[in-house]
Amino acid sequence: MSAVAILQSGRPDECLVNAEFPLTRKDLSDIAGMIYSDAGIALNETKASLVYSRLSKRLRQIGLGSFKQYCALVSSPEGFDERREMLSFLTTNFTRFFRENHHFQHLRDEVLPGLLTRANAGGRVRIWSAGCSDGQEPYSIALTLLDMAPNAASLDVRILATDIDPKIIAQAQVGIYDAQAIETVDPRMRKQWFTQTAEKRWQISDQVRKQVTFRELNLMALWPFRGPFDVIFCRNVVIYFDEATQNRVWARYADLLPPGGHLYIGHSERLSGEARDRFESTAVTIYRCKGRI
Ligand SMILES: C[S@@+](CC[C@H](N)C(=O)[O-])C[C@H]1O[C@@H](n2cnc3c(N)ncnc32)[C@H](O)[C@@H]1O
Repeated sequence: MSAVAILQSGRPDECLVNAEFPLTRKDLSDIAGMIYSDAGIALNETKASLVYSRLSKRLRQIGLGSFKQYCALVSSPEGFDERREMLSFLTTNFTRFFRENHHFQHLRDEVLPGLLTRANAGGRVRIWSAGCSDGQEPYSIALTLLDMAPNAASLDVRILATDIDPKIIAQAQVGIYDAQAIETVDPRMRKQWFTQTAEKRWQISDQVRKQVTFRELNLMALWPFRGPFDVIFCRNVVIYFDEATQNRVWARYADLLPPGGHLYIGHSERLSGEARDRFESTAVTIYRCKGRI
């Protein structure tokens, strides 16, 4: 449902969440319109409570008294920085090390052996984690890689990790996690690649961090690279987009992958649109690009 559709569904001044800061249909529609045009994220009326719970904290922090004032701020030129802040509050950053572990098993067993043969012969290998959140996904790729190729740093193998949220990218670069976050990392890898900080958290080693290049990147914007990528992970990201936006993103990935390149997507995502014919499914949520057709 678009921002316009939210408004068409009932009275603009109707209160959707009646709490400390009343959230009206018009407020939600304004916020949905901005987040859709900035990030491609589609919000509908079922997300009213979520928007309220995430942004009411922000209203309190900056001392505003209503969503109407907040909407006026973020849609004004003076509110440019706050609009980026709003994006950080509204994006969902949930992630896990080795989330959907069958993807990493497939990467290790079916994809990396061929790519490493090429890299060991002097070739180039590029992997992209798009929508990487706080780094657990690209670091899981790097750990899988280093486990198979301890010499990876001396090869032309790079992992690019991007996200729209600059705060989460800054966190990813530091690579410090709670004990709970690294529970899904194999104990052997944990011992080898993580060290405890003074605050009893866990930092991933420099060698793993050096394997990954983090960049802020909005998937809706121009991408400052032409590829090709051998592997793209874009998991649990497009689920927040509408179908037309998803289809555009899939087509852009197909343009960046050579024939035989792999795309890993989230468990509740499906390839759709014209790009669907440019991929063949090799396993659930794992696709191989057929190249240009
Ligand atoms: C739920 S997390 C998924 C993280 C990881 N891929 C995983 O599956 O564990 C979704 C990430 O997508 C990012 N995101 C949302 N919209 C985006 C956009 N338009 N461009 C780039 N990243 C975006 C969010 O900031 C968030 O970090």
